[in-house]
Amino acid sequence: MKVLVTGAYGQLGRCIYDVVTDSYHLPYDEYFFASHKDFDITNLVCMEGYLLSHPDIECIINCAAYTNVDGAEKDPYTAFYINSRGVQNLVQLCEKYDIMLFHISTDYVYKDGQGICNEESEIEPINIYGQSKRDGELHIINSKLKNWYILRTSWLYSEYPGNFFTKILDQCTRSAAHNLTVVDDEIGSPTYAKSLAELIVCIIQHGYYATTLKSGIYNASGNGMASRYDFAANIISGAYHIKVNGNELHIKVPVYPIKQADLNLPAKRPHCVVMDNKKIYQYIPISRDHWSYDLSTCITNYENNMNHKIKEYKILYGKDLY
Ligand SMILES: NC(=O)c1ccc[n+]([C@@H]2O[C@H](COP(=O)([O-])OP(=O)(O)OC[C@H]3O[C@@H](n4cnc5c(N)ncnc54)[C@H](OP(=O)(O)O)[C@@H]3O)[C@@H](O)[C@H]2O)c1
Repeated sequence: MKVLVTGAYGQLGRCIYDVVTDSYHLPYDEYFFASHKDFDITNLVCMEGYLLSHPDIECIINCAAYTNVDGAEKDPYTAFYINSRGVQNLVQLCEKYDIMLFHISTDYVYKDGQGICNEESEIEPINIYGQSKRDGELHIINSKLKNWYILRTSWLYSEYPGNFFTKILDQCTRSAAHNLTVVDDEIGSPTYAKSLAELIVCIIQHGYYATTLKSGIYNASGNGMASRYDFAANIISGAYHIKVNGNELHIKVPVYPIKQADLNLPAKRPHCVVMDNKKIYQYIPISRDHWSYDLSTCITNYENNMNHKIKEYKILYGKDLY
């Protein structure tokens, strides 16, 4: 099967690339990775042009999104234009060319304070980002698509820059922070983007879409729960023995809990939305570990990436990166 990954230079797109190019996975499918520029989901002409020049695409994994949660409060137009209108465009083309659609949505569509949420839990997005993602979901739910999957995930992180995991480590290493403050009244399910990527590739590779897995909405997060504070503390303690350039990092930055109200961020965040992933794992016979186990895998991959970057820099510029 020919599979197109949109938003391919974002963290989930990069993780899907890693998974399908990893020799252990050897997918039988052919993947195309399109950047924002190659396949802008707000530009129907550009999108159709791409499909016509890459014929026989049978599946799209939509990783393209506006993901700046605070930015969405200031610029709701752009958030809706990408997360809702963009998805409507995808639906239109997937209907026209009979393409299966995997779309990534968020825990931020659920009503806050329900605790453990399954796919039947109440929907009530708490902020503009969540509302725009819910709007995107509705275009798919109300479509005539034959094969569609909305995978709701949460707290995505990876070794690639720009997410909670890398921001915590950057603050500890680069800016040599003396202490960190992280909220303890935001509780959710951290999700390693590579685990989500493996799940999607597995569904496609083993043809579960044609057998056990019916079109629909599925939670797809890391197992278990944590506060942001717990998550940060685990990242820092897990990274203690990371070796960069042969030397252990020995990060010893203390983390102190604060409350969301102390930060006064433009967008509200849910206080407690924990994902119940049972539905999808009824149909996909792979085991999923607790989020803390996935975190240690991410730390190892982060360490390997850092050392690779340092080596490359030395070869290219003849001096040390740090
Ligand atoms: N990050 C999280 O914590 C989280 C949690 C729950 C759900 N999700 C969902 O998971 C999915 C993947 O998230 P992620 O963390 O991988 O996000 P990401 O790193 O921000 O990647 C999003 C990608 O979408 C691209 N993009 C933006 N506008 C586009 C457009 N109009 N057309 C095509 N591409 C466009 C971006 O490209 P540019 O950078 O060039 O604009 C970027 O490469 C998203 O649907 C997100 O809503 C994320």
